[in-house]
Amino acid sequence: MRLVVTGGAGFIGSNFVHQVVEGTDHDVVVIDRLTYAGNIASLAGLPASRFRLVQGDICDAALMDALVADCDAVVHFAAESHNDNSIGDPGPFIQTNLVGTFQVLEAVRRHSKRLHHVSTDEVYGDLALDDPAKFTPDTPYNPSSPYSASKAGSNMLVRAWVRTYGLNATISNCSNNYGPRQHIEKFIPRQITNVLVGRRPKLYGSGANVRDWLHVEDHNLAVLAILERGRPGQTYLVGADGELTNRQVVEAILLEMGQPPDAYDLVRDRPGHDLRYASDWSKLREELGWRPIYRDFRQGLRATIDWYRSNEAWWRPQKAAVEAKYEASAQ
Ligand code: NAD
Ligand code: DAU
Repeated sequence: MRLVVTGGAGFIGSNFVHQVVEGTDHDVVVIDRLTYAGNIASLAGLPASRFRLVQGDICDAALMDALVADCDAVVHFAAESHNDNSIGDPGPFIQTNLVGTFQVLEAVRRHSKRLHHVSTDEVYGDLALDDPAKFTPDTPYNPSSPYSASKAGSNMLVRAWVRTYGLNATISNCSNNYGPRQHIEKFIPRQITNVLVGRRPKLYGSGANVRDWLHVEDHNLAVLAILERGRPGQTYLVGADGELTNRQVVEAILLEMGQPPDAYDLVRDRPGHDLRYASDWSKLREELGWRPIYRDFRQGLRATIDWYRSNEAWWRPQKAAVEAKYEASAQ
């Protein structure tokens, strides 16, 4: 297939492009606006015979139309993706995540192409820390932040285009990803790079919030399986059954990096901070045979720490600005 990959210079998208070009026969055209979160260095080393980068905005209807006309399928990763940013300035989230997804849908509709929409478990809201329940594909949307509300809205647009226009689209809702090439504003790479520059890791609130950590390569294998074999119109949840408190994650990072496990600071909590996410991903396992390959979080974390140690040129130019922004909000 010839794939258009939106947001392919971001964390998950760039890992997806490497996995597709190196592990399948599909060719890739990336469309990415190269916002602060897009990094052209994440796409270094890909062969020009299999891959092309177009710098542009998914909100640009004419550009999307031209790219989609010339492909077999679209994999839609592009988004404003960071909850903290959405609390400070929601506007770009509405523009890219809602208006941008609308333009993707319209281009796909005009040219009758296959679409996979990449979304998040956060659209379902959160669970109590001691709640045995998990999100299922039928759980009603109940988002908490401007980011997750914009993603829930984008999912609803996709579902409406499926029902009204018969679009051949699928949706995946995934848990928290970790791995190489993740922007250092995000939790795990922020703490790894803090230790590398001699700062103490920062935990929001009491550090008791729970996330279900999945390696980015496992997420992308799920996206590929759904793209190639998923049933039209269906929603698939992607998770790891790897729930950890934020405090446990910080302690693991500190121990792996040779520091005392309590060498972190508690800082101001995120407003509206979701307590816990957990997803039932049995549909993906039973229908498509997917299951995570990275079963050992500590091993995946160690490899991720090594990546940030070895790729300082990739993250160092942004470190001071990211920390100055957090300091301004006492985080
Ligand atoms: P990211 O912020 O690292 O990357 C987003 C990419 O989109 C960047 O390259 C950016 O330049 C590009 N982009 C932003 N606005 C654009 C626009 N208007 N036009 C074109 N390109 C634009 O995000 P990520 O963490 O890689 O997440 C990718 C997708 O996966 C998002 O849709 C996100 O909601 C979803 N998701 C993320 C996670 C996670 O843990 N990171 C988990 C589940 C789902
Ligand atoms: O669940 C999927 C979602 O996971 C994706 O949709 C989002 O795009 C992705 O950013 C992520 O959202 P979170 O808000 O869960 O991720 P973040 O890395 O921002 O934070 C993870 C947890 O760590 C969260 O409980 C907040 C906390 N945190 C975060 C930072 C940056 C801290 O305690 N300290 C920090 O410095």
